[in-house]
Amino acid sequence: MSELTEKAGKLDAVDELAAKRAEFVLDGPEGAVYLDGNSLGALPVGVPGRVADVVARQWGELRIRSWTEEGWWTAPERIGDRIAPLVGAAAGQVVVGDSTSVNVFKALVGAVRLARETGAGRDEILVDATTFPTDGYIAGSAARMTGCTLRPVTPSDVPDALGEHTAAVLLNHVDYRTGRLHDLPSLTAAVHAAGAYAVWDLCHSAGALPVGLDAHGVDLAVGCTYKYLNGGPGSPAYLYVRADLQDRFDSPLPGWNSHAEPFGMRSDYEPAEGAVRGRVGTPDILSMLALEAALEVWDGVTVEAVRAKSLALTDFFLECVGEYVPEGRVECLTPLPHAERGSQVALRCSPTLGSARAGGAPTAGPVMRRLIERGVVGDFRHPDVLRFGFTPLYVGFADVERAARALAEELSEATAERSHRV
Ligand SMILES: Cc1ncc(COP(=O)(O)O)c(C=O)c1O
Repeated sequence: MSELTEKAGKLDAVDELAAKRAEFVLDGPEGAVYLDGNSLGALPVGVPGRVADVVARQWGELRIRSWTEEGWWTAPERIGDRIAPLVGAAAGQVVVGDSTSVNVFKALVGAVRLARETGAGRDEILVDATTFPTDGYIAGSAARMTGCTLRPVTPSDVPDALGEHTAAVLLNHVDYRTGRLHDLPSLTAAVHAAGAYAVWDLCHSAGALPVGLDAHGVDLAVGCTYKYLNGGPGSPAYLYVRADLQDRFDSPLPGWNSHAEPFGMRSDYEPAEGAVRGRVGTPDILSMLALEAALEVWDGVTVEAVRAKSLALTDFFLECVGEYVPEGRVECLTPLPHAERGSQVALRCSPTLGSARAGGAPTAGPVMRRLIERGVVGDFRHPDVLRFGFTPLYVGFADVERAARALAEELSEATAERSHRV
């Protein structure tokens, strides 16, 4: 047994979240190490039974009665309240529904409208230049619709880019590619000091680390539920609108579900009060109730405990990679300081890295394909990034050691093959 396998065993033995693993289905190739929960979270064991009940009994037998008797109608707010503590929000501010992309649109246009109430000259939207593409596309459209210009800015440069023309700023809490954690408290404060509104995308932080929306005075936020919240493929996203802004939140998608009197069937629109104002049309009940069941795994878990384990997992992965992978074969894109690290490790792996004499390191795509074949599932992001996501509720330290060892073996084998060929 190597020193690191021994260390993994010791860390697993004192892991206070270890028992949570049994609440997930982690079958598949024997002993698979699943490090892709930052893309699609694993299936919680309670979900299939709940979905079966929703389909067979609630829909099949009760049919339309379920809208009231089974709480379908109020599910978006109810499930929003279940997510709220995970993102540091008091109840009544989060509503579930639609996709992240759609909620980015609602939040960003809503933020510009809020800014315009007091400052007509506010005609610029700043967007994270390193953002996940959908946020950038939607911000571009939101800018055209609101007569703003769109300026892509690296998050750390946002304070210098802010000014009296800034209406809203759209930022990612954790960068999807590098795993860099941005400084939400100080960036939000800077946005506010400039008189603008901050919209945060929490896709890669909610369920992995403390967010503190209320504590840091965030204006609006959005996030998906299919990554660290394990809601399932395409599960609905959520929208947070801070309580004191809700009265003024003017949604660009005012559907009948956000009407003050949805069954009044009125031709004039009167927005509902509270988080409900973020709703649009009929909610996707099957996905939404699957998500509600999935959120039960959070019972008895604190986000602080999740964060502590997440950092221990990524630290240990980096230690194992440092020990096993030959020097220079990969470059870590994820910041080493804990304050700047999300719950993933991104390793750049390209032919330009590694010694030319040894044939250079193999490219990221084929390396990840081979890792997946041998049961270590991470993902590949164009053009040369290997992403490994660490979901503290079901990833253990032995998984981490095994993944790093497999990576090292793949890199050495592939490099040896290449040098043989040249
Ligand atoms: C930061 C970020 N925003 C948005 C999305 C996707 O949005 P949607 O849920 O609309 O597909 C992702 C998906 O991975 C993401 O990482």
